[in-house]
Amino acid sequence: MITSFDAPPAARPLLPMLAARLTVLLDDAAAHIDRGQSVNAFRLLGAPLSALWAEARGSSRTDEALALVRAHRLFALVRQDPYTERAATKPRGYAGDAVMMDYVYRGQAPEGTSALGREIMAATTRSPMGLSVLYRRVLLRSLIDDVAASIDGGRILSVASGHCRELEGSLVMSPLFQGEFVALDQDPLSCAEVSRCTAGHRVRVVQQGVRELLARPVDGGEGLGCFDLVYSAGLYDYLPEVLARRLTARLLQMLRPGGRLLLANFVPTGSGRGYMEMFMDWPLIVRNEVAFREMAVAAGAGSVSSFHDPHRNVVYIELGAGQTGRSEVPA
Ligand SMILES: C[S@@+](CC[C@H](N)C(=O)[O-])C[C@H]1O[C@@H](n2cnc3c(N)ncnc32)[C@H](O)[C@@H]1O
Repeated sequence: MITSFDAPPAARPLLPMLAARLTVLLDDAAAHIDRGQSVNAFRLLGAPLSALWAEARGSSRTDEALALVRAHRLFALVRQDPYTERAATKPRGYAGDAVMMDYVYRGQAPEGTSALGREIMAATTRSPMGLSVLYRRVLLRSLIDDVAASIDGGRILSVASGHCRELEGSLVMSPLFQGEFVALDQDPLSCAEVSRCTAGHRVRVVQQGVRELLARPVDGGEGLGCFDLVYSAGLYDYLPEVLARRLTARLLQMLRPGGRLLLANFVPTGSGRGYMEMFMDWPLIVRNEVAFREMAVAAGAGSVSSFHDPHRNVVYIELGAGQTGRSEVPA
């Protein structure tokens, strides 16, 4: 719950300094936007805002910091940006829906967006966090193409596919691909968009949540079978540890021999975390490289390699199945 910043408890002496630094930063960013320099405003905000937010979290001052931000004129200004606005209002019940992701992929503002909103959107969707999302799509498309080009009848599974924009321009959309691509997502509207965009191609859309995936057998009539490539981008950032481990164990079971499982997670030190949480109300379950690798090992991965994206916002782990090829799903 947000409490008023007007009456900070006397036993919390750090808050006034934090508030002063936060106010200077927000004033400065708003002044840049006033001068038509939105990109500079967000350059200015990025890391310092995340650092102040980390300080607020570390000293249990998040409510006070949020109240200050929400009362500042910058908060109303940036809500003209459809990307920020959609995250904050959550029309599908959660931030980071596939429509929001399209704002990053396409960079196109919806009709009715003000000129200032368009300018701010150009800055927010091309911040380093946005660039990390764009990089992720390029990486996924390369992995998809690798399977399509090298494995006859290759099978690929995207878990929490959203609109699956990485398929655009991929070999899955060409006659070369004679395998099967399965796009799985819980959101019926996102599934409908994937069906529309991939009609006539070897893409199967499965509207299913991960809990249902876990409840079904791998093989047999109800199961999805096994794959040469399984990946999930933009999902683990929402999964608590036990569910992340259970899902990873299940996805490992769904690999064909020699198959690859690629998972992505935003890291705690991501440069845009402050803005996302304070202005967009978009908290993520972040993991650093060590924690993400440990989760994978606990899930039974036989091999784990990991790397960061060029923007240092996302950690990737690539997993192979355990020795038996089939690991048990931990309780
Ligand atoms: C941030 S988007 C990522 C979409 C896409 N993978 C991408 O990278 O653009 C998150 C997606 O996860 C889906 N999702 C969230 N929780 C899910 C769950 N429990 N089961 C299946 N899909 C889920 C949402 O519907 C949404 O499409």
